[in-house]
Amino acid sequence: MTDYTELNARLRALIHEIPHKIANLANASALLYDALDGLNWAGFYFIEENKLVLGPFQGKIACIEIPVGKGVCGGAVAQDKTLRVDDVHTFKGHIACDSASNSEIVIPLHESGRVIGVLDIDSTVFSRFSEEDQAGLEAFARILEEEIFA
Ligand code: SME
Repeated sequence: MTDYTELNARLRALIHEIPHKIANLANASALLYDALDGLNWAGFYFIEENKLVLGPFQGKIACIEIPVGKGVCGGAVAQDKTLRVDDVHTFKGHIACDSASNSEIVIPLHESGRVIGVLDIDSTVFSRFSEEDQAGLEAFARILEEEIFA
């Protein structure tokens, strides 16, 4: 089990008072990719004109645009809630950027209370993300909001 108290302290230290959004997001994705077992993708999409557009990430080449409402990422934005998918093959509309993905968690990101994008994490392991992972990763997302988008 990931020690999210430690991971989130590392994130805060990594990006605190660094005024470079893309650099901070790139480092945040690298931190996650390195710290969590079984991942094949970790990164960001941000809303531009009702579509999600690929941001900084670690992993294989990914889809560049995802319409809001489509896939796990677009669904998380449309509902403004975390979507934790134990088996992506059973998720209607899942967008398979990497056929090795078996589970996924997508957490909306906010600026001034409005959803602006998502943190998306994929794993080759079925049911990789537990409720504890969700809580730890939601705390990770809140740090990003405080440090980068506040
Ligand atoms: N699987 C996502 C698409 C993005 S990739 O996983 C990087 C989805 O269904 O929205």
